[in-house]
Amino acid sequence: MSKPAPLIVLAGGSGFVGRHLAARLASAGYRIRILTRDPARSRNLRVLPTLEILGSPTLYSQGSILRAVSGAQVIVNLVGTLQEKRDRTRSFEQVHVDVTRNLLQAAGAAGIGRYIQVSAFGVDAPARGSHYLASKARAETLVQSSALDWTIVRPSVIYGMDDGFLSRFTNLLRWSPGIFPLACPHTPLAPVDIDDVVTALITLIGRRSKSREIYCLSGPEIRTLREIVQSIADLNRTRRWIVNLPDWVSWLMGALLQWVPHPPFTLDNYRTLKAQRIHPGGNPGSATRGFGALGIEPRPFLDRAAVYCRRFRPDGDGEEDLSNPGITRLA
Ligand SMILES: NC(=O)c1ccc[n+]([C@@H]2O[C@H](COP(=O)([O-])OP(=O)(O)OC[C@H]3O[C@@H](n4cnc5c(N)ncnc54)[C@H](OP(=O)(O)O)[C@@H]3O)[C@@H](O)[C@H]2O)c1
Repeated sequence: MSKPAPLIVLAGGSGFVGRHLAARLASAGYRIRILTRDPARSRNLRVLPTLEILGSPTLYSQGSILRAVSGAQVIVNLVGTLQEKRDRTRSFEQVHVDVTRNLLQAAGAAGIGRYIQVSAFGVDAPARGSHYLASKARAETLVQSSALDWTIVRPSVIYGMDDGFLSRFTNLLRWSPGIFPLACPHTPLAPVDIDDVVTALITLIGRRSKSREIYCLSGPEIRTLREIVQSIADLNRTRRWIVNLPDWVSWLMGALLQWVPHPPFTLDNYRTLKAQRIHPGGNPGSATRGFGALGIEPRPFLDRAAVYCRRFRPDGDGEEDLSNPGITRLA
């Protein structure tokens, strides 16, 4: 009888990165188990042949998590949020640090071979008051002090089909009344294509050698937020006058908007943007690697964004591209 394919547990696998990763892992022949607090969120992934969805609101508690990860060869922790909720169970500390701690303990107890933590670009720079980055950094410290075979991946802002970046700015631009006020316009970003991030994760999942390495995954070009938003408007043929907000107005916008339900921008988002200092391959002096070390050449933003934005235009084709470049099926 042939050996069953390796089982990969995707904690937070119902999200943007998780959905793309699950689709590519399934077509590469892996078995996948998505952990989610709400299985209904992943209904559309049930078409994937080797996918199991495991969920409950208390899934990440110490009592439940060991059972949820048992039998896996690799855990990928994709649990994260850019905006904490005020209740105790959804603070940055709980989402990033407590969930990581419980997953690491369960991985150790279950004897799981490899643990991959998806963190964020900029955690090694001073957090400048960003609770998001500070909590991601604390989670990384836990990972690095564990006895597991760990890898940390720090992506820059990720764009792709069904993301929260191109589609968010597309909608905000579309609904703005001619003028589009933009907070933190001069923030330098190196947006990275979801397909490149997924290729990197699959390479790391399939590696035979031990790791204990950190990878900074950024796109090949650095652009300001203003340039990126202008490109999105141009690609969608949305004519808007994009107005750069001064720094104090950006701060005020975050301070006020954070109180509305589902805020488009918060004070912590402002602080996270202000902390961005892009150095492809990691900040100077940090012992990190980039796409190059994995043999991947990240693709340029404009070319790929043009493909993804096609579906936003009235003449667009709306086709989803979850193709699988360079991934070999497991025997
Ligand atoms: N997308 C980007 O541009 C980007 C850039 C840098 C780093 N990252 C990091 O990459 C990872 C994946 O990002 P993503 O874009 O896929 O995020 P996403 O779409 O928001 O998905 C994150 C997942 O985390 C889970 N989650 C959220 N709050 C939770 C809580 N309180 N307890 C337990 N689980 C919770 C959710 O799963 P359920 O609701 O199903 O439980 C959700 O599906 C995150 O760690 C993120 O910080 C993303």
